[in-house]
Amino acid sequence: MSRRGLLTGGALAAGGTLVGAASVAAARDGGQPLPAPKPVAVTVGAAIEPFHGERQSGIATEPQAHASFVALTLRSGVDRTTLGRMLRLLSDDAARLTQGRPALADTEPELGLLPARLTVTFGFGPGLFAAAGLDDRRPPSVADLPALPIDRLQPGWSGGDLLLQVCADDPVTVAHAQRVLVKDSRPFATVRWVQQGFRRAAGAEPGRTQRNLFGQLDGTANPKPGTPLDTAVWMPDGPDWLRDGTTLVVRRISMDLETWDLLGRTDREMAVGRRLDTGAPLTGTAEHDEPDFATLGPDGLTVIPDFSHLTRAHVTDDRFRILRRPYNYDGVPAADGTADSGLIFASYQADIATQFLPIQRRLAERDLLNEWTTPIGSAVFAVPPGCPEGGWIGQQLLD
Ligand code: HEM
Repeated sequence: MSRRGLLTGGALAAGGTLVGAASVAAARDGGQPLPAPKPVAVTVGAAIEPFHGERQSGIATEPQAHASFVALTLRSGVDRTTLGRMLRLLSDDAARLTQGRPALADTEPELGLLPARLTVTFGFGPGLFAAAGLDDRRPPSVADLPALPIDRLQPGWSGGDLLLQVCADDPVTVAHAQRVLVKDSRPFATVRWVQQGFRRAAGAEPGRTQRNLFGQLDGTANPKPGTPLDTAVWMPDGPDWLRDGTTLVVRRISMDLETWDLLGRTDREMAVGRRLDTGAPLTGTAEHDEPDFATLGPDGLTVIPDFSHLTRAHVTDDRFRILRRPYNYDGVPAADGTADSGLIFASYQADIATQFLPIQRRLAERDLLNEWTTPIGSAVFAVPPGCPEGGWIGQQLLD
């Protein structure tokens, strides 16, 4: 396909991405410019994310359209050695499936051929450390969060010894990977909960911040991967086995669309402190304008209300920021049409105690958004580093 063909329709219009076009070489060979490398169109289905590496994929990875968070409970009797066997097996499954190869003894091998940017990210809950007899190596804040007055937690959406966060741009790919991983986990663990979520389809709004089911742009103030802010996410030091790892908090937060629907637009914007259309702070005009919390309105009150989600969640010191990677969920409405919608709020940070908890406490204390949101599930995990080819996730801890 010619470059002109690519740009005027075809692959781009179909949601493809271009690889290599930007890296046109200025290099010369004997004074003659080298021909520009041919652009390669990668379709959504064929796109691949790495599995092996120093850090696990699925964190700094541009969020895929579909996710399944699978929390497992280890069977009694599973110990450090058995855990090693389990994680070797699951790492092998993930290494193959993410690269578009069927798992070993895959019963539906054709479903393993479309990676669609599949990532499988492993998280270790408090129970895994206990089972391995390694409680002394558990980061202290990887423990149940302190009880909050806003919480209405249900055991069926909370806790978990091992988390498998499965993300891809294709829902069939996610379903197949989940099936393979759950089947191979059977001798070692039972399924505790599964939370399935979605964002906009791949390529639907390239480069744009996603919207949650309240219609808000959600993710504007996230640290950008590759910046010095990375140190807020990745463990720079600490225990050897966790270097280049992180921690994950998963909160299932139900959003009351019925009462939210009753609010006027101004009230909705006051609740979050940003405009619904552009995502701009109430003191600005563009999404990425810095919010000004001191500006007063004609009534003498701050333009961005003190009780707004933005004011309460805002962090000025980069070291204490968190990386949010949430997914929407939308269950079956009740017979009267009442929605079962919300957010699978997932946040990554080097330390839960000094980064996530202070924000969560400020929100629990006085965030107007609490009127329409209720946390109904909560789980925390240590996310170990990645592994090299031939290695497995968790090897640094368990081997
Ligand atoms: C259903 C629940 C929630 C909804 C609908 C929601 C929505 C939003 C929206 C619309 C924004 C502004 C745009 C942006 O920067 O992304 C935002 C910002 C933010 N939210 Fe939430 N959020 C929820 C829960 C939480 C929770 C549980 C936390 C952490 C404990 C949190 C932490 C933050 C942070 C840190 C920011 C960025 C603030 C800044 O520095 O500007 N959010 N959220």
